[in-house]
Amino acid sequence: MHRHELVFEQTRTTILIGRGLIGRGHELLVTDAGLVPDQRIYLAIDAGPERIVADRHGRLLEAALEAQGGVARGIFEAAESAKSMETVERIWDDLLQVGMDRRGLLVAIGGGIVCDVAGFAASGWMRGIDLVLAPTTLLCMVDAAIGGKTGVNRPLANGGLGKNLVGAFWPAKLVICDCDVLATLGPREFRAGLAECLKHALIDGEESLVAFERDLPSVLERNPETLPDFVARSAGVKVSIVQRDPRESGDRALLNLGHTYAHALESQVDLELLHGEAVALGLVAACRAASAAGLLSGRELENRVTGLLDRCGLPTCIPAGGSADLGALREVMRLDKKSLGGQIRLVLPRAVGQIEVVDGLADEVVDAGWAAILRAE
Ligand SMILES: NC(=O)c1ccc[n+]([C@@H]2O[C@H](COP(=O)([O-])OP(=O)(O)OC[C@H]3O[C@@H](n4cnc5c(N)ncnc54)[C@H](O)[C@@H]3O)[C@@H](O)[C@H]2O)c1
Repeated sequence: MHRHELVFEQTRTTILIGRGLIGRGHELLVTDAGLVPDQRIYLAIDAGPERIVADRHGRLLEAALEAQGGVARGIFEAAESAKSMETVERIWDDLLQVGMDRRGLLVAIGGGIVCDVAGFAASGWMRGIDLVLAPTTLLCMVDAAIGGKTGVNRPLANGGLGKNLVGAFWPAKLVICDCDVLATLGPREFRAGLAECLKHALIDGEESLVAFERDLPSVLERNPETLPDFVARSAGVKVSIVQRDPRESGDRALLNLGHTYAHALESQVDLELLHGEAVALGLVAACRAASAAGLLSGRELENRVTGLLDRCGLPTCIPAGGSADLGALREVMRLDKKSLGGQIRLVLPRAVGQIEVVDGLADEVVDAGWAAILRAE
């Protein structure tokens, strides 16, 4: 079992990565989250497609927690539209009904949507109760469950969805990454997680990128022997960056590599992109924008990234038109730009392992990124 520790202000997060961990849920909560005998637990469970997460992984965790007695639970749909205040209120209503006090523990098991929304509910209940996350997607294991960001989306006036506009930093005490659960993850969702793993490798440096390239065939086969090491390496990159800059006043922004483009794409809900798919496109756009800004010479890195994304089965371009036309996407970025005080900020690569936050870029540079991923029909 791999173990990472992350100290986020007053909270120490222990991140455990291995196999067969959910079945050991009670033991791990006692040893690594300080669970005591009369502490109440509320389980927020991702339903999963055809309830596969609730019926398999959720049940296993519930069975493991039987020793605790009186565990309450709610089952939630993992949809961006349900990553909302309504869902937070539903959890708060449940907590009220079961008489959850300030010593209570909220445990979420599921993907990034359920972990984000349940984490936000935990941050607000009685001004904050302890949180444990058991991520069940690759993306959530290496990214969403680490670093304390919780939150919900808000509808935008233009009909789109403002991602994560309301939220709080509320780090989990314990994150249990049981790689066995990845066996049931849909192929599209599994691939989406690889985009964040590639992003972490690009940020970390050549050694990580070479390891990513080497491990990819085995990871794509979901070899249970390979996954824990692969997840641990990728999660470790996020841990070390968040440790340096928990509240994103500096280096944590590097984790937004490709994300300004990704968020604009994601806000166009009719494109129906998963977060990781939007990040994949954003990585290609960031490479091209870096070339246009003079940070990268030539397209060597862009080609390497595109080649790896192809191997992962992730999109590297989308047909232009409708919500994916340059005008529409520029408009979304313009709105985003306003919220950043009129500046376009992109996180761009100068080289593998040399990622920079660049402000005040010319429109031509930003558009070069869009041109790389919008395919004329
Ligand atoms: N808090 C953060 O720092 C952070 C970072 C990155 C992303 N996010 C957020 O995470 C969300 C995306 O999360 P995600 O990629 O984990 O996807 P998700 O939560 O949308 O889940 C994807 C699908 O997989 C299903 N699923 C989950 N685990 C499964 C399993 N083991 N087997 C079968 N099906 C399973 C879910 O029910 C859902 O249908 C976005 O809302 C994004 O904004 C948050």
